[in-house]
Amino acid sequence: MAIYLDNAATSYPKPASVYRMVDHALRNVGASPGRGSYRQSREATALVEAARNKVARLFDIPHAEQVFFTKNATESINIVLKGWLRAGDRVVISSMEHNAVIRPLRRLSEGGVEVEIAQCSVQGRLEPEVLQKHFSPPPRLVVLVHASNVNGALQPVDEIAKLCNHHGVPLLLDAAQTGGIQPISARDLNLGMLACSGHKSLLGPPGIGVLYIRPGLSVSPLIEGGTGSRSEQDIQPELCPDRYESGTPNLPGIAGLAAGIEFICEKGVTAIREHELRLASLLEKGLSDLPGVKVYVPEVRGSSAVSFSVEGINPADLGYLLDQGFDIAVRTGLHCAPMAHQTLGTFPEGTVRVSPGFFTTTAEIETLLGAMQQLLSQR
Ligand SMILES: Cc1ncc(COP(=O)(O)O)c(C=O)c1O
Repeated sequence: MAIYLDNAATSYPKPASVYRMVDHALRNVGASPGRGSYRQSREATALVEAARNKVARLFDIPHAEQVFFTKNATESINIVLKGWLRAGDRVVISSMEHNAVIRPLRRLSEGGVEVEIAQCSVQGRLEPEVLQKHFSPPPRLVVLVHASNVNGALQPVDEIAKLCNHHGVPLLLDAAQTGGIQPISARDLNLGMLACSGHKSLLGPPGIGVLYIRPGLSVSPLIEGGTGSRSEQDIQPELCPDRYESGTPNLPGIAGLAAGIEFICEKGVTAIREHELRLASLLEKGLSDLPGVKVYVPEVRGSSAVSFSVEGINPADLGYLLDQGFDIAVRTGLHCAPMAHQTLGTFPEGTVRVSPGFFTTTAEIETLLGAMQQLLSQR
């Protein structure tokens, strides 16, 4: 069995209960939720609403009906950017953002939305004082990646949220890399919006994502259609969550996500974070000791993604050698975040990224370090 160290892309394996719940939802429930009064449909509805409550509890969201199920974090982010920003608006983003933010904004900028970049340090941290310089006048929205998918840099979200709230600017927090690893309270931070993948550290299957929008923020839906409610009207209902959930939902995905969150709550976010950050720290130390290796260590680490490069070896070649010679799966290149690499000074070749997950063992990290040592000694 390969050693899988690409959990920042998607977590693998999943807890056994996730596989069971996906199978149960598909095999035993099967019906479309919110669409019928027969038993199976009611069961499907109950399953979806229980999952919604679990998401709300995990992120301390006071209004569960403001939690929406999407396809992934990319879709969640697109809904916010395209439904909130209009021509003439200004949005400020950090220089560590993912293409899930950069690409929709590129398109919106062609339609008259002004995009400003708040520059992070060379280790990937956005200082609140730097962001503050973009607040005269305040923008319509701030977008912040909670932790970088390139080097795991954690942003000072408490201070940044305070700054945004002081000026009445909604903050969209991209928690794709931190949901399930870092404690997040949408209530305490008074987040405007929160986007998260279901398939990364929330441990759900692919094809499911989460979005929260604070009540009172008028975000236009990206997609309109059947919701199973107010069907006599040809206008999209205002009622939430229906407003942002048109069409048949991904029942197996939602069921699997609920099982993933249950698993996280059983283990505890703190215990999960400690395990993953301990492995990341072993990696940082072990890799830094190797000749010619540069590790892009953040000021404060928020996730397990460890990026490094080796003098004279292309990251893609190294990834290939680890796969072919040692059956170790790591990610190489730009990780869909070119501006983050410009910030860290690793553009355009990118880095090798190793991202352990909850099921990764110390022995697997030691095997990777041994493989690296062997590869470098052969040069
Ligand atoms: C920081 C960050 N934001 C957004 C995304 C997009 O997530 P998804 O694949 O769920 O759309 C990712 C995925 O890699 C990410 O790491």
